[in-house]
Amino acid sequence: MKMQFLHTIITENRHEGPGYAQLRFRGDTPLAGLPGQFVMIRGDWGFHPTLPRAFSLVRAGAEGAVLVRDVGEGTHRLTQLQPGDALDVLGPLGNAFALPPKGVRPVLVAGGVGVAPLAFLAQQLHAAGRSFAFVYGARAAADLSLKDELAALGPLHCVTEDGSYGETGLVTAPLQRLLDDGTPSAVMACGPHPMLRAVTHLALAANAPVQVALEAPMACGLGTCKGCVVTAHDGVFHYVCSDGPVFDGEVIFGRAP
Ligand SMILES: Cc1cc2nc3c(=O)[nH]c(=O)nc-3n(C[C@H](O)[C@H](O)[C@H](O)COP(=O)(O)OP(=O)(O)OC[C@H]3O[C@@H](n4cnc5c(N)ncnc54)[C@H](O)[C@@H]3O)c2cc1C
Ligand code: FES
Repeated sequence: MKMQFLHTIITENRHEGPGYAQLRFRGDTPLAGLPGQFVMIRGDWGFHPTLPRAFSLVRAGAEGAVLVRDVGEGTHRLTQLQPGDALDVLGPLGNAFALPPKGVRPVLVAGGVGVAPLAFLAQQLHAAGRSFAFVYGARAAADLSLKDELAALGPLHCVTEDGSYGETGLVTAPLQRLLDDGTPSAVMACGPHPMLRAVTHLALAANAPVQVALEAPMACGLGTCKGCVVTAHDGVFHYVCSDGPVFDGEVIFGRAP
């Protein structure tokens, strides 16, 4: 898919809970992109911060969208943008989730802001009329920023660590139940690395293939700065931007010891 550099305009800044904003934007041409792929984005704010920031696509097409969690200078400035403000978008970058064959149920597992690429995937599956299961976990209800959007698309299992919404605990409990129900499944996950490791080990123990979308600090997003390396369980280096961000979970985390 051809990479584009688009000067876009913010069409909407949706408050998605404390510290979260969904930014929607439009350029002169539609933004191509598939679930799992990401964009490097930057507002029109002068020199600081200089580098663009990486975000998974929540949607592509005539109107693109990203979900931003405010964790630092760049993300804070992004959450403050208003309709009409400029946003430079480079993408789509990286690879996408591979859909399992018909007859295999996609099981989507999201942790926190890792919901972004999986929300895009859920929309795609819903539009194609495919059934799927979605497990969405976070620390607290306020971090389940896209739960209403997702509940409209299919069965949603919400989990919070503090018990403020849905089941109390971690995503691994509902995932285990789904893997145990006998339906052939393929797992797609995005979230913190310890969660992805646990999800990979559970899926592989149930003979389900598993894809994980990783994050790493990124300066360029293009494969040149070599700043986004992750070390797999066998010591091999992988670049998240150019080899991923979607990887076979077994390649990164291996099987449970
Ligand atoms: C492929 C990819 C997809 C991503 N998708 C999303 C998304 O959909 N929504 C979203 O909110 N964020 C996403 N991120 C993370 C986002 O890029 C970082 O949160 C952002 O770059 C932080 O910029 P900042 O200037 O606000 O923070 P900084 O001031 O640069 O750093 C603030 C804190 O965030 C940490 N941090 C910086 N970059 C990252 C990173 N890449 N991953 C994890 N922690 C980081 C720093 O270590 C520091 O603790 C994604 C990252 C990658 C690589
Ligand atoms: S972010 Fe520069 S090489 Fe990956």
